[in-house]
Amino acid sequence: MPRLEVNVDHVATLRQARLIDEPDPVTAAALAELAGADGIIVHLREDRRHIQDRDLKLLRQTVKTHLNLEMAATREMLEIARTVKPDVVTLVPEKRQELTTEGGLNVVGNQKMLRDYLKQLKEDGIRVSLFIDPTPQQINAAKEVGAMWVELHTGAYAEARDEVQAQKLFDELLDAARHARTLGLRVKCGHGLNYRNIKRFRGRQEFEEFSIGHAIMARAILVGLERAVREMIDLING
Ligand code: PXP
Repeated sequence: MPRLEVNVDHVATLRQARLIDEPDPVTAAALAELAGADGIIVHLREDRRHIQDRDLKLLRQTVKTHLNLEMAATREMLEIARTVKPDVVTLVPEKRQELTTEGGLNVVGNQKMLRDYLKQLKEDGIRVSLFIDPTPQQINAAKEVGAMWVELHTGAYAEARDEVQAQKLFDELLDAARHARTLGLRVKCGHGLNYRNIKRFRGRQEFEEFSIGHAIMARAILVGLERAVREMIDLING
């Protein structure tokens, strides 16, 4: 059965809006796990706009499923990851001005650097996933640099202007997932997935895991976090 990883960044976004100590993403992570989440994700950004170092440390101690740290491939983040030792690191591109992660990582253009970077993470037993656009070139490069997982960027699919375009982009995701699997990569996907556009993924064995944040937190504000997580799990599992 496909798994759901819940991204709790936006609980921290709300907290940081007041620079106080609530709501706490650590509490949110525990509730998400109680509701059935299979993993917890946080993105520790260079500018610390939402998740803080303290959150990551506490989550490492409290998460019962698995902890996935999204981060840019910088020296600072490498040191943090090697100290905290999340179960999984997802490497993402990061730009200061963006509202959220905009595109996939350019693995093709950074193979040497990434191969060395991944080697160091793997020495500590950390599984590495690369967040990439669903193209054969990026997938092949992800395999070459030694990634275990690829997370296919679903942003374009999520923003499709109509059903025809959505189906076309979904088919591209399917082709990409199949290609990755033939190379022995494990495949997840995420970005912009919500309670409507997730339905197309139902029953598809190509995707092992979904990484979802904003839509779940947006619903949680209105119906509560546990219900929001359960409803997403029900949709994923049909
Ligand atoms: N996957 C990656 C790599 C991301 O950067 C994000 C956004 O932080 C997500 C998944 C989750 O996206 P969303 O918040 O749109 O569900």
